[in-house]
Amino acid sequence: MKVLVIGPGGREHAIVRSLLADPNVSEVHAAPGNAGISALVPTYAIDANDPDAVAALAVKLTVDLVVVGPEAPLAAGVSDAVRTAGIPVFGPSKAAAQLEASKAFAKEVMAEAGVPTAMARVAGTAEEAADALDTFGAPYVVKDDGLAAGKGVVVTNNRDEALAHAQSCFDAGGAVVIEEFLDGPEVSVFVLCDGSNTVALSPAQDFKRIFDNDEGPNTGGMGAYTPLEWAPEGLVQEVIDRVAQPTVNQMAHRGTPFVGVLFVGLALTSRGTRVIEFNVRFGDPETQAVLARLKTPLGGLLMAGAKGELDKVQPLRWTKDTAVAVVVAAENYPDTPRTGDRIRGLKKVDALDGVHVIHAGTKLDGEGKVVSAGGRVLAVVALGTDLVEARERAYDGVELVQLDGSQFRTDIGGKAARGQIRVAAPGTPAASKAKA
Ligand code: AMP
Ligand code: GLY
Repeated sequence: MKVLVIGPGGREHAIVRSLLADPNVSEVHAAPGNAGISALVPTYAIDANDPDAVAALAVKLTVDLVVVGPEAPLAAGVSDAVRTAGIPVFGPSKAAAQLEASKAFAKEVMAEAGVPTAMARVAGTAEEAADALDTFGAPYVVKDDGLAAGKGVVVTNNRDEALAHAQSCFDAGGAVVIEEFLDGPEVSVFVLCDGSNTVALSPAQDFKRIFDNDEGPNTGGMGAYTPLEWAPEGLVQEVIDRVAQPTVNQMAHRGTPFVGVLFVGLALTSRGTRVIEFNVRFGDPETQAVLARLKTPLGGLLMAGAKGELDKVQPLRWTKDTAVAVVVAAENYPDTPRTGDRIRGLKKVDALDGVHVIHAGTKLDGEGKVVSAGGRVLAVVALGTDLVEARERAYDGVELVQLDGSQFRTDIGGKAARGQIRVAAPGTPAASKAKA
């Protein structure tokens, strides 16, 4: 099978790496890719958000499957163009991608499907925003309605700050969703969907804030680990039964079947499991950790998703190891990041036992050297027999990465490794409000 992977980041590097390990995958191509991806497979400098350009490339390469990584091409209709060209594609249509592209749409579908989520109101003016903030009270949660690369959400106790974020979204011509605050630890569950069937991957935890201890602004994600030893038994089944399957059924009922990854972002609150958000693609950097543990060949799985055959796949197989991914970000991320700096030490990282580098914002300079080219530059991914060992290995790797001004969180998986994450039994006060 020949596969074309669309996207430029760490998630796509991880997908390419796993596809290359699938004995039934004969060729992998990628567009546009990054320095890590281009070291593995041929890459093509096309605009990944241009549906016609992607479809034309897929036809030219005579691939059997296209896998679309990021949300932007999905929201732009890349999957539709590839499907129209007659090539199976793993990734939702433009219409189905609205589950991520519009938070208001996602809330509407969740309501129709009976999916448990935060109470929310859409606001389009300062008055409506103020009214919604006062209805739910502090802590305030204000979300840009459109795509914002994980950075459109402000959670704050400061009402003025909440209002200012809403105003900045209105000024940009958008609307906001204002929600009740959800307490409890967060979990990311990726559910493979083929339009009617669902298969869940092993849950992971992401670290959204830039600084240790969940301080500072939200980012796209600064690290992840999987599996979650502390997660309640039956969590994955609950996600399938109460969230993913009802959503997939509802999307089919609406005439916009969902094919691809339904990324269910959950909070395990003192009042039960609640959906924080849907995304319509693999999470980044969770994928780097999740795929490092997946033993079932990825190509066959994604092809089954694209062809509506997920009911035929065997139960997924995983290594018993724990995986940790620690993101190394550029100076000044998540604001405008510093780019163009040489990155050294990556071969030494890859030589460590159980450790590999996944590139995100990297490219080759004129001399063929790897330089930074984005906010999240790379992730060091480590497998270990338990979370303690996986963390040690990942951080040993991070220490070897040389990039001027770079930053990383030191506490990825830290609380879990120390047994400090508690999930409150529904109906009791939250035993811990820990997010990390
Ligand atoms: P989102 O883009 O919706 O995933 O939100 C980004 C981050 O903001 C989430 O991972 C949470 O940490 C936080 N967040 C979003 N919605 C809520 C909520 N209703 N209550 C508490 N935290 C939230
Ligand atoms: N890591 C969260 C996301 O991919 O949106």
